[in-house]
Amino acid sequence: MTAGGINVQQPKGYDRVAMPTFDVDAVRARFPALALTHDGRPMAFFDGPGGTQVPETVIEAVARYYRESNANHGGAFVTSARSDAIVEAAHEALGDLLGVGGDEIVLGPNMTTLTFHLSRSIAATLRPGDEVIVSGLDHQANVDPWLAVAADRGLVVRTWEPNVGDCTLRLEDLDPLLGERTRLVAVGWASNAVGTINPIADIAARAHVVGAWLYVDAVHAAPHLPLDALAVDADFVACSVYKFFGPHLGAVYGRRELLDRLPAYKVRPAEHRFETGTGNFEGAAGALAAVDYLASLGALYGGADETAPRRERLLAAMTAIRAHEMDLYARLEERIESIPGVRLYGLRGDANLERRTPTAAITIDGLTPREVATRLGEHGIAVWDGDFYATGLIERLGLAPDGVVRIGLTHYNTRAEVDRLVEELAAVATRAIGSPAPALSRTR
Ligand SMILES: Cc1ncc(COP(=O)(O)O)c(C=O)c1O
Repeated sequence: MTAGGINVQQPKGYDRVAMPTFDVDAVRARFPALALTHDGRPMAFFDGPGGTQVPETVIEAVARYYRESNANHGGAFVTSARSDAIVEAAHEALGDLLGVGGDEIVLGPNMTTLTFHLSRSIAATLRPGDEVIVSGLDHQANVDPWLAVAADRGLVVRTWEPNVGDCTLRLEDLDPLLGERTRLVAVGWASNAVGTINPIADIAARAHVVGAWLYVDAVHAAPHLPLDALAVDADFVACSVYKFFGPHLGAVYGRRELLDRLPAYKVRPAEHRFETGTGNFEGAAGALAAVDYLASLGALYGGADETAPRRERLLAAMTAIRAHEMDLYARLEERIESIPGVRLYGLRGDANLERRTPTAAITIDGLTPREVATRLGEHGIAVWDGDFYATGLIERLGLAPDGVVRIGLTHYNTRAEVDRLVEELAAVATRAIGSPAPALSRTR
């Protein structure tokens, strides 16, 4: 089966089970912050691509870590042993999320710091004149670390240009960039600005033909898609737990053989080759709880058996999440496109739903993105404005420095929230161009 254009292994027995309804109210009840109000109205959170809210179980896991397990690594006493067990379990959980082993997961402060860190080790194996490929669609966190090591080591950087019409990366534009000196291709699994999903398996196959490694930024993809690092044959996959209902923590999958082989920038006594310094252990406790939260949705709404391995429950959960989110997104896209003065960037239309996440980048004629976000914020609606560090893309779209308004749907959003957002956007757009509000009666 495919989900979001990605081949994923069907959880066992999944096709034989009638799919339970995704109960968004029950999901929301698990997130304390979703009860927040602003000026008497419920807050509506469309800021997920910048960081999601967290369920009570994550809050509780972090608090419980401090109450029961707070200690440094490797001690001969109970709290240290508990802390180490939690951190190991967090590695296993994140391995399950990406379809890899827990010993192939590197934890660190965030994706950016981990990528700077690993890029230094990767580049230490390269020679002047070797080539790396970055994309003009990506978040700068998967571009600038490679530019930095290229400057340090005399590497050549080639840029895979996106098609600005639909904000996609085309494989035929990658092919001429690949050659016998290509050592690494850095690309995003999905764009955090416009939602484009990239064909990672095809990119990996091309990179491997010339002997290059593939470093994938899955930060935006992780809350939306079933991910399988092995199925797509990526060498590195980076993500950030705070984008999928957990604490501020980063995680990178690296192929075991590469993690063993790459030179490590570490202090002599440290056991772990890439996790430097004292870890964010409470964050690891929260990460474990976040993955377990997602897995619980697989049993509740994805048709997976409660007793199935966590990996199976996660795949089922992400498939159920994807269906709910894209139903909402289709409704949002159709309605915002009927508002005069609103422009939507990137892939559009039902035929392209498979190729995108539920993340909409828009502008409204006559208003800056900050003005739009401020007006929505006054009404208790959280959206981001700017370039979200997808700076290269926003420049290529001619929208720098103000950027776009980003509406990021997640699985805890509802149809009623989408309708409320569309109503507010229509009112904002109408005031900007001075025409009557359009009828927003179409349904989907
Ligand atoms: C696609 C993408 N990549 C990388 C990052 C950077 O992640 P972190 O904040 O964990 O460094 C972000 C954060 O917004 C992102 O959306």
